[in-house]
Amino acid sequence: MTTPSLPTQDELKTLVGQAALRYVTPGDIVGVGTGSTVNKFIEALATIKDQVRAAVSSSVASTERLRAIGIPVLDANEVEKLSVYVDGADEIDGHGYMVKGGGAALTREKIVAALAQRFVCIADASKLVPALGQFPLPVEVIPMAAQQITRRFTTLGGQATLRLKDGQPLVTDNGQHILDVRGLQITDPLGWESAINQWPGVVTVGIFAHQKASVCLLGTAQGVETITY
Ligand code: 5RP
Repeated sequence: MTTPSLPTQDELKTLVGQAALRYVTPGDIVGVGTGSTVNKFIEALATIKDQVRAAVSSSVASTERLRAIGIPVLDANEVEKLSVYVDGADEIDGHGYMVKGGGAALTREKIVAALAQRFVCIADASKLVPALGQFPLPVEVIPMAAQQITRRFTTLGGQATLRLKDGQPLVTDNGQHILDVRGLQITDPLGWESAINQWPGVVTVGIFAHQKASVCLLGTAQGVETITY
């Protein structure tokens, strides 16, 4: 007798992307995040696209995918509130606090999430952590402040490096740069998010604690687990 093989990470992403459709009400304008897990959600949305009025998107990449499947994308300024925002995470802890920004879209993600009544995080089980800080913390910065922000992270025990793409500093959708900070133990996500966001030159820190997940749909070998915070 052969043992059934465990689902791959990609299959888990597909499962949670599909499961997130439960949170989309017909006629909704949906908030859509960025990343490989969200791409699975967008593929799932394609199957109910006639029920989706429009989307507000957190990146150029997601906007292109949404338009390609025929879902109109609105500017965030055209919308007062969204019932749901669906996005992935690089890490999520037991409180629903997250680290995000591995796809460099953290600023727009926070803006769209702030419009939403409910943040549905979709993630494979590898993203669930006891405490934030294993994944390098992404921070979007104004380029002229990168060095002083790097020094400030050193005093917190972190090592910040400029994110590169094709050998050049990565430029975000907002025309800024990303620092990835290793070696941090984010013991107080709420306090750290507030404090770092005040540093001159920080556009957005990738700690999502003030805008934590309301629900996490976690893809596990046993199926999709729903964790409510
Ligand atoms: C992009 C993000 C993503 O949500 C995060 O990086 C997770 O991505 P993936 O689903 O590809 O693992 O924050 O800025």
